[in-house]
Amino acid sequence: MSKPRLDRYLAHGMGISRSDAQRLARRGRVTIAGEVARDPSMHVEPGLEVRVDDAVVRLPGQVVLMMHKPAGVVTATRDAVHETVLDVVPAALRVKDLSPVGRLDKDATGLLLLTNDGQLLHRLTHPRRHVPRTYALTWQGALPADAVARVAAGVELEDGTRCRAAELVVHGEGHGEGRGEMTVHEGMYHQVKRMIVALGGVVTSLHRIRYGPLVLGELAVGQTRALTEEEVTSLGAG
Ligand code: URA
Repeated sequence: MSKPRLDRYLAHGMGISRSDAQRLARRGRVTIAGEVARDPSMHVEPGLEVRVDDAVVRLPGQVVLMMHKPAGVVTATRDAVHETVLDVVPAALRVKDLSPVGRLDKDATGLLLLTNDGQLLHRLTHPRRHVPRTYALTWQGALPADAVARVAAGVELEDGTRCRAAELVVHGEGHGEGRGEMTVHEGMYHQVKRMIVALGGVVTSLHRIRYGPLVLGELAVGQTRALTEEEVTSLGAG
């Protein structure tokens, strides 16, 4: 990934001249990763967020999409056998270098972000970032009485991996089945399914309803839309 000079980055991203970009930086109106950046000749490291007066500056052509992922498609950019999430993106939104942000299992549904902004992708998927993800789920089996407390304390998976503290809300249980919501703050492989297994259940459906500040809302299954500027800016917060 290249490291553009700050003044070039701002000029390109905001459609302003390099000298205007230099003025903005010298006046202390520009931050990189939350630090005021007054030197217009400094280079912007990949993954760092640039803001002017709090608004995120992105390079032209960068898009962030929200998909309501249907079941049966794999979260990959290509697959020899299965339909991928990129196949689901309508042609008008299918820009070059689009990648999913993290992954949802083939049988999982719900909110999936896709972007061609490598810096945003890097930032959101960085292990230290802990973006909260909320899933509506159903399971088979009766979870133990202390399931909520064990999730809050950090479940130990069957292979001994300790999860970060998470939140389980049980909406209903009975007849060997249950339904609820789980919020996790990391993105380990099959994480929610493995947490439920560690608690003695088996996930029967998994649907992501929230990713960081974003909610799936009314977006219909299989539909994809571009995020608004405010939504993109909100993603960078925190
Ligand atoms: N946890 C899982 O088990 N699967 C997903 O797709 C997402 C979170």
